[in-house]
Amino acid sequence: MPRSSAGEQRTDKRFRQMFQRYVSAPEFDGILRSRRSVRAYKPEPLDSELLREALDAARWAPSPHNAQPWRFVVLTTVQSKLNLAEAMGQPFRRDLLADGLSPDEVAARTEQSRNRLAGAAAVVVVCLSEEGLQRYPDADRQAAERAMAVQSLGAAIQNLLLTLHHRGWGACWMCAPLFCPETVRLALDLPDGWEPQAMITVGRPAEEPIAPGRRGLESIVVYR
Ligand SMILES: Cc1cc2nc3c(=O)[nH]c(=O)nc-3n(C[C@H](O)[C@H](O)[C@H](O)COP(=O)(O)O)c2cc1C
Repeated sequence: MPRSSAGEQRTDKRFRQMFQRYVSAPEFDGILRSRRSVRAYKPEPLDSELLREALDAARWAPSPHNAQPWRFVVLTTVQSKLNLAEAMGQPFRRDLLADGLSPDEVAARTEQSRNRLAGAAAVVVVCLSEEGLQRYPDADRQAAERAMAVQSLGAAIQNLLLTLHHRGWGACWMCAPLFCPETVRLALDLPDGWEPQAMITVGRPAEEPIAPGRRGLESIVVYR
């Protein structure tokens, strides 16, 4: 893993000092709890510097052995978003028909999905790379290593979502690429070893979703 340069170490120190001075618990909780999955966006183009900040935040997530197994594909042009939507529409349509939905329902669902991609200012496809992961001779430990890497993608995505939210932008984590990874790989001409895992739509919020309820702590925590 590359070592931090002197410049990066200075930046690191600056961030640590800023953290100590400025972030109060209520502010932190406010950012964390007010983030919502935003699915409707205003037709406002995304500031590329802002997206860069969010991607930069993503890479500060924890990961196994600091392997940083996340990779990102950013789509901002109408054509690139529509190409991906069209490509993913085919397996989606096939799956919905196999589920027994009527042709009208299938058309409505695929249209909705296409519009969500087209209506976003940007779409970030999050991929997994096994580069840098440890290699084990047995399948069980290899599977655990891969699970760790996938878990850390979630942490990176959360950093991305929170950063966008903090700056006044909305986003929604979508699982669609997991169901058609080969289609996404071909549509985006992904580099070798990049496995699509998720897709984040990003845009200026055109809705203010009510927070979906959460399970109470008593039902999800046990003390032993
Ligand atoms: C792994 C994962 C996959 C998700 N996939 C989708 C999706 O495909 N479509 C969607 O509209 N929301 C998706 N979501 C968003 C969840 O529905 C949302 O986070 C949840 O309902 C809680 O709402 P909140 O994010 O506003 O707190 C996904 C979230 C996660 C973590």
